[in-house]
Amino acid sequence: MISSAFLPDRGRNGSAIDHSTDLTYLKRMSKLAIITLPDPLLRATSAPVERVDDEIRRLADDMLETMYEAPGIGLAAVQVAVPRRLLVLDVTEKEKEEANPIVMINPEIIKLGDTLAPYEEGCLSLPDIRVEIERPSTLTVRYIDREGRQQQLDADGLLATAIQHELDHLDGRLIIDFMSRLKRDMVIRKFKKLARG
Ligand code: NI
Repeated sequence: MISSAFLPDRGRNGSAIDHSTDLTYLKRMSKLAIITLPDPLLRATSAPVERVDDEIRRLADDMLETMYEAPGIGLAAVQVAVPRRLLVLDVTEKEKEEANPIVMINPEIIKLGDTLAPYEEGCLSLPDIRVEIERPSTLTVRYIDREGRQQQLDADGLLATAIQHELDHLDGRLIIDFMSRLKRDMVIRKFKKLARG
């Protein structure tokens, strides 16, 4: 079972939290700046989260808000310049399905399926870049949730792809690493040029 972060603005029923705290949560959430290539932090290996406290929960909530606003389906903490092993995901289709925000702390893939599936992937840290990547279409991931509980989740399809993409970020790996060297160098040059203005 997946435990969801509490997001009052998406119409979810936060049964564990009473209404007097709802507004506090909403007000405290704020949008974060997403770093882009060639920021060297994107190549860093993120360190494990040592304790799930209010600070981590707040970061996760802010990351979710940032991801929804972008919009994106996944975001790793390092993308908001916090190199810790924390990521947020929601692969549901906006307006068609109920939101399903997922917060994963210290995630670890413990099983990968044998079948590969291609997806055209984008990344909020690499605007306008799309790369078709073949990854295992099913996996099992173990992680700590927003409440500090140990969780295990079987994922397939887009969610399995998104989890692998975000986990790559925690090890400094980007979608351009799946391109040929020639194409990758072209993309890096383009972003360096953009950064110089
Ligand atoms: Ni990404």
